[in-house]
Amino acid sequence: MAGLAPKRGDKGLFMRIGVAYYPEHWDESRWARDAALMQAAGIQVVRLAEFAWSRLEPEEGKYDFEWLDRAVALLSAYGMEVVLGTPTAAPPAWLHERFPDLYPMDERRYPLGFGTRLQRCLNHPGMRIHSQFIVEALARHYGSSAAVVGWQTDNEFTANLCYCPHCHHRFHEWLRDKYGDLARLNAAWGTVFWSQEYTAWGQVPLPWATKCDSTHNPSLQLDFRRFQSDATVSFQREQIEIIRAHTARQFVTHNFMGTHDSMDYYALGEALDLVSWDNYPHTPWWVSESGAGFGADVMRGIKRQNFWVMEQQNGIAGWSKMGRRIPDAQLRCWAWQAVAHGADTVTFFRWRSCRFGAEQFWHGILNHDGEPRGRYREVRRLAGEFASVRDALTGTVVRSEIAILNGYDQHYALQIQPQADGLAYWEQAGRYYTALRQLGHNVDIVPIDADLSGYRALILPSWCVIEAAAVETLSRYVKSGGRLIISARSGLKDGANVCVDAPLPGALAAICGVEVEDYDPLGGATSSVCDIEGVCHTVSVWADALLLHGAEAKAWYADGLFRGLPALSRFEYGAGSAWYFGCFGDGAFYHHFLKEVLNEAKVAPELPTPPGVEVCWREKEGERYLFVLNLTREPASVHVPGAVTALLGAAPADGVIALEPFGASLFRCEAVRADGARAGNGKKGASSVAAVG
Ligand code: GAL
Repeated sequence: MAGLAPKRGDKGLFMRIGVAYYPEHWDESRWARDAALMQAAGIQVVRLAEFAWSRLEPEEGKYDFEWLDRAVALLSAYGMEVVLGTPTAAPPAWLHERFPDLYPMDERRYPLGFGTRLQRCLNHPGMRIHSQFIVEALARHYGSSAAVVGWQTDNEFTANLCYCPHCHHRFHEWLRDKYGDLARLNAAWGTVFWSQEYTAWGQVPLPWATKCDSTHNPSLQLDFRRFQSDATVSFQREQIEIIRAHTARQFVTHNFMGTHDSMDYYALGEALDLVSWDNYPHTPWWVSESGAGFGADVMRGIKRQNFWVMEQQNGIAGWSKMGRRIPDAQLRCWAWQAVAHGADTVTFFRWRSCRFGAEQFWHGILNHDGEPRGRYREVRRLAGEFASVRDALTGTVVRSEIAILNGYDQHYALQIQPQADGLAYWEQAGRYYTALRQLGHNVDIVPIDADLSGYRALILPSWCVIEAAAVETLSRYVKSGGRLIISARSGLKDGANVCVDAPLPGALAAICGVEVEDYDPLGGATSSVCDIEGVCHTVSVWADALLLHGAEAKAWYADGLFRGLPALSRFEYGAGSAWYFGCFGDGAFYHHFLKEVLNEAKVAPELPTPPGVEVCWREKEGERYLFVLNLTREPASVHVPGAVTALLGAAPADGVIALEPFGASLFRCEAVRADGARAGNGKKGASSVAAVG
């Protein structure tokens, strides 16, 4: 199994609990009590300083690390390892005074002001150089500290979606590098439309606000999104290079945001040693009972490795308005869910609710009063549980036989032109994902340039923007025996976001043996499709009517404009087969058709679960572990058709695992698969998802 870049040391490979701590928010006389309470709770890692720029460099070029030295030394004396954040997400007031144009501009060219965080343009030369200075000073100072095990770059990067003059200038440079001459750009973008042909680079606009949202050329918009994603990646790369020059064993990570989709997370992850992420299933603006698993699987797919949770919600969330009080058992269940999906370390946000500032009401393990109460006891219990299964789980990874392909160009293209309600990339990927999870399967979510050879089945949600290399990869995959599901709207555009000059699904047509004869952007409207046995399903979002060129129809429209025409098809291509799904259905639709695809792909059935209950698997050589998580407020049960040994929670009675509300169980499996096969024996064609260690 591949490791977590051993050159960066071996920290981060085993299970532990951590917290985000802000010593600068509290009187120093309190620090020792905090450290003692953390130690007593079994907390082993502490993240510090990611917003402390004004304390670390109170004046330009004048650094003050003494307070942080004392905090690091104290925490280390209590057995804690430290992850340091680079503080560039919160530039200090003096930097803005020095560079008044450092604020990012929105699409109306309206600059942000001081008083929040992230109020900086990552393309601004002053931001770049001062970020390098502070990171260099920190890395020199802490690069050989034994107490510091790793670094977090900045905080929750997004694409630098700024429209300021610096960005405009850099965009021209980026375009010049990409296209070389303007004639190529004009041809690729189709600027002849509405007289937009450019005769000098300086004429190319940013996609500023216009009278109507969608008047900018979609090709310009796609390149702008790529450019601003690259801007963030290169900003981070400068920090990573500086840190690496001063450290030998400390790892570098960044706290990603699960299904966030403004930038290319694969490019952002490339130079990091490990991925970590911030998991907030319940906030005033978002409630997800089981969606955190999806986010975690996106995170695992970035480097195809285990990961950390850098910020795990551990209380009431909210800024001016608060979300609901979360049962302590639910907090624990979320932490186990993260581990089940491949997290090795879970770090809670935050240690103690802050008395001041914008996040006064974002609750920590301790409330404002600093006294240990219910959440503290729950975290202590969890830390004890982690310790009890650490040996068993260390070195285990998540292996999946099925993967959903993900690419950020697809997100951008569908954000620029949503086409129909329901087509958004994660929304439609989520339909497949939820069905697969309810059938009890691990699912990977990976980029198309990952090693796909071990997967028995792949799902391609609407891959609108497709280039030759991707077509070649998919063709090779199916020819050599894989099963591929292609969704409607795939193959629609070339790499410049221009519609292809061919029947749809364009270059994918040869792989799936169909041609799209007609289509209807259904959005929220519905139609009905039936299979050969007369089993019917309601579909929505999109309807493609298919002409078959060698493919067999698997379902037909039963009503509407396309009544009697094929909606779903299957085509044998080389040693494998490609299915075309011309419409989108509900859970029952996916269960029905996915079962057939998985059966053909010889993916062994796992453990079907009721809604809100999740099963996940981690394994290492010769050992397989089953997590069963009840993410609901009601008791639940799951039938296990094989011998298991309980490591967490009660043993099954007569093959049935009973779970309390928000219950989490962990079992070592003997012969748990429904087909009786023992996993981890090398027969499964497992994926290339690698261990972090
Ligand atoms: C995260 C962020 C933290 C904190 C938290 C609660 O997204 O990384 O710094 O703001 O949300 O709002």
